Amino acid sequence: MIILDGKKTSEDIKQEISEEVKLIVAKGLRPPRLAAVIVGNDGASLTYVGSKVKACNRVGFDSTLIRLPNKTTQNQLLEKVEQLNNDSAIDGYIVQLPLPEHIDSQTILMAINPAKDVDGFHPSNFGKMALNLPTFISATPHGIMELLKRYKVPTEGKQTIVIGRSDIVGKPISILMGLKTNPGNSTVTLAHSRTSNINSLTLSSDIIISALGVPNFLKADMVKENAVVIDVGITRLKDSSEKGYKIVGDVDYENVSKKCSFITPVPGGVGPMTIAMLLKNCLLAYNNK
Ligand code: GUN
Repeated sequence: MIILDGKKTSEDIKQEISEEVKLIVAKGLRPPRLAAVIVGNDGASLTYVGSKVKACNRVGFDSTLIRLPNKTTQNQLLEKVEQLNNDSAIDGYIVQLPLPEHIDSQTILMAINPAKDVDGFHPSNFGKMALNLPTFISATPHGIMELLKRYKVPTEGKQTIVIGRSDIVGKPISILMGLKTNPGNSTVTLAHSRTSNINSLTLSSDIIISALGVPNFLKADMVKENAVVIDVGITRLKDSSEKGYKIVGDVDYENVSKKCSFITPVPGGVGPMTIAMLLKNCLLAYNNK
């Protein structure tokens, strides 16, 4: 069994990015700048955005963190988006999700200039991804593809099941795995809350990508021998540690890993890859200019 080490791989990628930034700066040019907008005080979102800003510093990017109060109106947020669209010092930016309920996320995401949409959430970028045209591929699915690529995990002709059909992970990774690419060229099933025979589907799959957010959902008796298991779940479970919680995935790692050819751990699997791929997208936005 081989552990797909997202922590190490993401460090390799960040090192590659920082080398490229050094070359840019050595030419007398400014480094790339990523901005992140966060509305409200959700603890997990603040942690994620904090990690993204920290990662910018690590690779030599400039960063701008914009914190807005929970009561921010949709129009106020649209104004901020417009401001970022027009700010030539900002190469790419993200609006952290989820947004408060009184704001329609789709309206906000569609207002982001696609050339600065380093999350790859705008319909124009999502569409290009589905057509295998050059674009910003959303960080989490991109991170999964990059892990599969760097570890040379065979995907061609394999049966892949994606569990969860979110716009951010399940839907895009189901498309990417089916593209005529390597990794890719896989036969994909997209399972979701209305799927009736999930156990028989996972049992017949060579690759299982779980993006549900339900701790311990995937048990050993749902997985065939030598399967590849990618765990995208990141759930905070309260515990007695100093932090007050621990991060758990969708997979019963201890038992499932014994049957796998490759598996991602949680933490240290897909999570760190997400941040590395966001930085890669921001560098692409900078270079596209
Ligand atoms: N919330 C959870 N994951 C993401 C992400 O990749 N981007 C944004 N903007 N919000 C998120």
